[in-house]
Amino acid sequence: MLNNYLKIYLTRTTMTNEIKVGIIGSGGIAKVHAIAYSKINFVKIVAVSDVIKERAETLAKAFNARAYTSYEKMIKENDLEIVSVCTPPFTHRDIVLDVIKSNINIICEKPLALNSREAKEMVGEAERRGLYFGVDFQNRLLPQHIKAKELLSEGAIGKLIQARFRVGYDILEAVPPSAPMREWLFDKSKSGGGVLMDIGSHWIDLSRMFVGSEAESVSAEISKNIENIEVEDNAMVLIRFKNSVHALVDVSWTQQNGQWPVELYGDQGTILCNFGEQTIVLYTKNKKYSKDGKLKVITPSLPEIGEPHEYLIGLFVNSIVNKTQPPVTGYDGYKAQEIIDAAYKSASEKVKVVI
Ligand SMILES: NC(=O)c1ccc[n+]([C@@H]2O[C@H](COP(=O)([O-])OP(=O)(O)OC[C@H]3O[C@@H](n4cnc5c(N)ncnc54)[C@H](O)[C@@H]3O)[C@@H](O)[C@H]2O)c1
Repeated sequence: MLNNYLKIYLTRTTMTNEIKVGIIGSGGIAKVHAIAYSKINFVKIVAVSDVIKERAETLAKAFNARAYTSYEKMIKENDLEIVSVCTPPFTHRDIVLDVIKSNINIICEKPLALNSREAKEMVGEAERRGLYFGVDFQNRLLPQHIKAKELLSEGAIGKLIQARFRVGYDILEAVPPSAPMREWLFDKSKSGGGVLMDIGSHWIDLSRMFVGSEAESVSAEISKNIENIEVEDNAMVLIRFKNSVHALVDVSWTQQNGQWPVELYGDQGTILCNFGEQTIVLYTKNKKYSKDGKLKVITPSLPEIGEPHEYLIGLFVNSIVNKTQPPVTGYDGYKAQEIIDAAYKSASEKVKVVI
């Protein structure tokens, strides 16, 4: 696959030295992508689009780019090398496939698609054409998560046995009625689901990243508590991975003072990541860290990575330039979606779903 990437990249770079970027969707997250690209000196945002003209024009003006209401026209009229897809989930499949068919590399927002069938199709098409396909699961790149993964990989807590990934907040407060996201977030046909698709897709992805294995089976409970929305606002997903690790992904849109911890429990220690304070604590009996083998408490220093979306987008661009694997791939987006699909099935049919 990498050889294919290499071939396509070399053909394209003979045309230009500057990497030309286009952004589809000009709402909340599009600005974050635009800022990230604007910080890379050999990248130029040449065009942006949105079905709502004023949104495209506002974003275009801020980054000295051309504004389009049709992304198809934007793709046709600009020699783009990367496109960021920053539209609601129900549009991802068609837009990503159109971008891929124009031989352009993509970073797509999460959740990758409405379901794993769509996600698989998108990933397959990008692979066939040898394109770079990234997903914006930037929570992998939070400093405490980078450090935790590093400690886990070097055996700081021994063999991982179980893990918990929690996230909770008040969605009505986080997304006020005036937010453009309200146009689609609570509408199942547009979002694909509620808290599990939205923030849950990030936390499911973290479970795969930390456990380092694929899901074998999934059991889930979901509930809907907020009035006048048609999607679930709470979900607990129990995943058994192929390497026998159990993970609980617990996501809520109704918590006050909700916490966002990642907890990793191994046979020689524990790693606790605190999202709010961006800290990490290691408790370990591992001889490398504790000479007498007694439980030792360590607060490791964390890498300075800056804003995580910017870091992820920088790494993605880097992967194109250096012909390496993107930090988070379309395949990761697909595998997260597979777990989410299984969770919805488990909750509705009251069964454990084997993947
Ligand atoms: N990675 C993250 O942490 C993160 C954070 C926020 C949002 N997101 C994701 O980003 C995506 C967009 O979220 P948002 O908060 O920017 O939403 P938003 O509603 O603020 O913006 C989406 C924009 O897309 C436009 N749009 C819709 N259909 C379009 C089409 N066919 N062509 C062009 N434009 C179109 C809308 O008019 C809107 O302006 C969602 O998938 C969301 O889950 C990810």
